[in-house]
Amino acid sequence: MNKNIKPVRKAVFPVAGLGTRFLPATKEMPKEMLPINDRPLIQHVVEEARAAGIEEFIFVTGRHKNMLEEHFDFQPELESTLISRNKDAMLKKVRDSEMPAGKLFTTRQPKPLGLGHAVWCAHKLVGNEPFAIILPDDLVDYKEGCLAQMINTYNEYGGNVVAVKDVPRAETSKYGILDIESDNGTEVSIRGLVEKPDPADAPSTLSIIGRYILQPEVFEHLSAFETGAGDEIQLTDAMAKLLGRQAFHGLRFKGNHFDCGSRLGFIAANIAYSLKDPEIGDGVGKILKDYS
Ligand code: UTP
Repeated sequence: MNKNIKPVRKAVFPVAGLGTRFLPATKEMPKEMLPINDRPLIQHVVEEARAAGIEEFIFVTGRHKNMLEEHFDFQPELESTLISRNKDAMLKKVRDSEMPAGKLFTTRQPKPLGLGHAVWCAHKLVGNEPFAIILPDDLVDYKEGCLAQMINTYNEYGGNVVAVKDVPRAETSKYGILDIESDNGTEVSIRGLVEKPDPADAPSTLSIIGRYILQPEVFEHLSAFETGAGDEIQLTDAMAKLLGRQAFHGLRFKGNHFDCGSRLGFIAANIAYSLKDPEIGDGVGKILKDYS
């Protein structure tokens, strides 16, 4: 690693959205607490961050979101019950989901004004250092986590790194699409971001998924509180202002990506993760056959 490149020690998890696509399930329960196989979305991504060497976990929460931080608490009554019943495997799962002291920080986003605004709410906790942003909606299933793959790219180039994925050309008008300066097949150097271009005008077919490593200068642009698409404060608008001033790379990550913020992606992820589960995988396979 280049000595001038500061390590990425902190990750921000924006979890203050309304989750309207899952109503009525998310009337009271945070979307990020919905389970994929045996653990909630938020735990999947916290584990990914931990495996990538992240030391500080910053949740941007809002109303009705306390359950998210409580999920990572020490649960003495539950643990003593599991111990008294000799449920060792379950006890290990519960303990693995605890967050050690001094690692979890929370800040509030009083109103869901957009992803960019949620990230800005973490600026004091992040301070003047590079940081990761992980959206729990996006799961990537691979032996090396998506953030760990991105940190390898970051250690090579520094600057900003986002996780990117090819989308079908016919669908570019649904996504933010990258304008690419150079491409080595795995990593691309980014010169522009185009919001929802028509397929004929799209400068590439690469779009960003919910994993970012950004330099703290992005907060200067977010603090202007400019609204963009959907009248929300958009993270992509602030990132676009860093282009040309700082290195900006996209990594074609390895692994299967699931958009768990959509009901279909959520079901797909549950099928994929439960099929791999040693306890229930065979049973799930049989159920799928019965229904096909
Ligand atoms: P989404 O765009 O999926 O919005 O946010 P949402 O409100 O969660 O869900 P829908 O579209 O209404 O179903 C992506 C991520 O950004 C967070 C969300 O919690 C989610 O993890 N977010 C979004 C915030 O923290 N604050 C916001 O103002 C918007």
